[in-house]
Amino acid sequence: MAGEMRQEILEVLLTEEQIQQRVRELGEQLTRDYEGKRPFFLGVLKGCFVFMADLMRAVDLPCEMDFMAVSSYGSGTSTTGAVEITKDLKRDIEGMDVVIVEDILDSGVTLHYLTGYLSQRKPASMKIVTLLDKPSRRKAPITADYYGFDVPNEFVVGYGLDYDERFRNLPYIGILKPEVYTK
Ligand code: IMP
Ligand code: MG
Repeated sequence: MAGEMRQEILEVLLTEEQIQQRVRELGEQLTRDYEGKRPFFLGVLKGCFVFMADLMRAVDLPCEMDFMAVSSYGSGTSTTGAVEITKDLKRDIEGMDVVIVEDILDSGVTLHYLTGYLSQRKPASMKIVTLLDKPSRRKAPITADYYGFDVPNEFVVGYGLDYDERFRNLPYIGILKPEVYTK
């Protein structure tokens, strides 16, 4: 039913306009920082797909992009600690300026594993851009080089982020009502 998803959102944390504005700024910053280079944007599926689609159109540089898929979550709301690569890169990234694009940096377990794995392939550089950062939840020693917004320790959905595969298509980011994941 139309409007049904909104019923399960406690509060809109970031509006569509706030997100669009910040994503444009991130794109401009990346454009300046990678001037003269040809960055390789590596999205971490599936959560990155909405953010990456907008971010890439705000980067005014010749670049490449591809995706990996990593699973570290079941259908719950916190990480199990186990990370598995379910879709790997076909391309060799040796000597490339890799920019990993994530939806949210939470415990850091996923990106800690992924950056360790990718550094064995000898990229010239590797940076992380994440739309959201939940620094209070960090367990692994990972920091984002670029981030859109700090978010509180709440489970958020929308703009690519899911709960149990739902809500990715919300154009804003909202805090999920706890009864949605406790029932
Ligand atoms: P980490 O390994 O704990 O940093 O988790 C990273 C992944 O967990 C993200 O890419 C998301 O897919 C998922 N995740 C963490 N927090 C949230 C949240 O609040 N909402 C939706 N997904 C989340
Ligand atoms: Mg997810």
